[in-house]
Amino acid sequence: MSARPPESPRAYRGRLLTPIAASPDGAAVRFLDDALLVVGGDGRIASVTPFAPGAFRGPVLDLRPAVLLPGFIDAHLHFPQTRVIGSASGPLLDWLERSVFPEEARFRDEGYAALVAGEFTGRLLASGTTTCVVFSSSCARATDRLFHALLSAGLRGIAGLTLMDQSCPEALRVPCDEAIAAARDLVQRWHGGGDGLLEFAITPRFAPTCSRPLMEAAARLARDHDLLVQTHVAENPAEGEATLRAHPWARDYVDVYDRVGLLTGRALLAHGIHLSPREWDRIAEAGSSIIHCPDSNFFLGSGRMRLSDARARAVSVGLGSDVGAGRSFDMRRGMSSAFDNAHCLGDRLSPADLFVMATQGTADAVGLGRAIGSLEAGKEADFIALRLPEHVLGEAATLNHLVFASDATVQRAFVRGSPVYP
Ligand code: GUN
Ligand code: ZN
Repeated sequence: MSARPPESPRAYRGRLLTPIAASPDGAAVRFLDDALLVVGGDGRIASVTPFAPGAFRGPVLDLRPAVLLPGFIDAHLHFPQTRVIGSASGPLLDWLERSVFPEEARFRDEGYAALVAGEFTGRLLASGTTTCVVFSSSCARATDRLFHALLSAGLRGIAGLTLMDQSCPEALRVPCDEAIAAARDLVQRWHGGGDGLLEFAITPRFAPTCSRPLMEAAARLARDHDLLVQTHVAENPAEGEATLRAHPWARDYVDVYDRVGLLTGRALLAHGIHLSPREWDRIAEAGSSIIHCPDSNFFLGSGRMRLSDARARAVSVGLGSDVGAGRSFDMRRGMSSAFDNAHCLGDRLSPADLFVMATQGTADAVGLGRAIGSLEAGKEADFIALRLPEHVLGEAATLNHLVFASDATVQRAFVRGSPVYP
């Protein structure tokens, strides 16, 4: 089932929590104890108001006591790692070698890719994620299967063929020309598909497994089609050393992406833990975003990301699960781990900060902030209904429960006003 705009206005009643434009003192949210959310025939939010009897002419779907929230946005995860979540086989490079690369090689089998793609989209929707930014494997047919699954689930998805032409197993290595031709073909087939819900992203895995010519060609393709770029940066010290061994012409990790043309205002850089002040400054100047993946960083022992370095330079930060190093598809786990990450550094994030980061903040980071990320008139109606325990009442308790407890269930999900879950 692919998402289609509803034909006539529809209205939903429930409690409602949404980010609103930030005030100078930080993240701002709006909570309504009894709200009416009206979705127009174009799939956009027509209005969000306190509920008043008779205010809407037409049937109202009463979802109380559920709370209506913007659908979650997972800005970084790996489709072919769906079945290896929880493989505790060591720090990043060992884990890739032992757990990830053997599994990703299985995606050369199109039937396997299609099977896991269905599991993948099902788990996203069951977690309340309505937008995902995804790495596929290096296999073009598997990536095609992924796009088909996103389309039939009705998800909003940005996905890319993972590029790697060196320092990886033969089964995953795709030479530069072949990989770029496959990426170009996928752009033609899928970019802007699903009535614009689907996008193709240029996806060099990370600097150690990409040659300079591959990254340069990838950057040209991104520029030609104004595509998002997604990759990893400065996740782990051994990875940083491998990067500079592979690319000795660069002054540091960020300089690799900078010199090949990948460091732009459309780049999403996952992790960003071990960055120097110079690298942070360049990321800020280029307007690239950092995708914070705290649950993965804990699982692989990669280190703590200093949000203060990003905030000091107004670098946009989105949140990613980084499944399968992240242990859950659930962005509530991501928010909770982001709280722990900040705590370890002596910083404090409020539940409202975390909620805003996971919704509007992540939408902004991936370039979709004008379309989604909050429940406000004019935005596309990507929202979920979450059922919290009956005793959770009021704004503060709702935020606390949402971010730190795990017993609320996703009751419904909508993308551009169309039901996509259950
Ligand atoms: N760096 C390169 N590939 C990966 C991956 O699959 N997961 C994570 N967490 N880091 C990476
Ligand atoms: Zn990743």
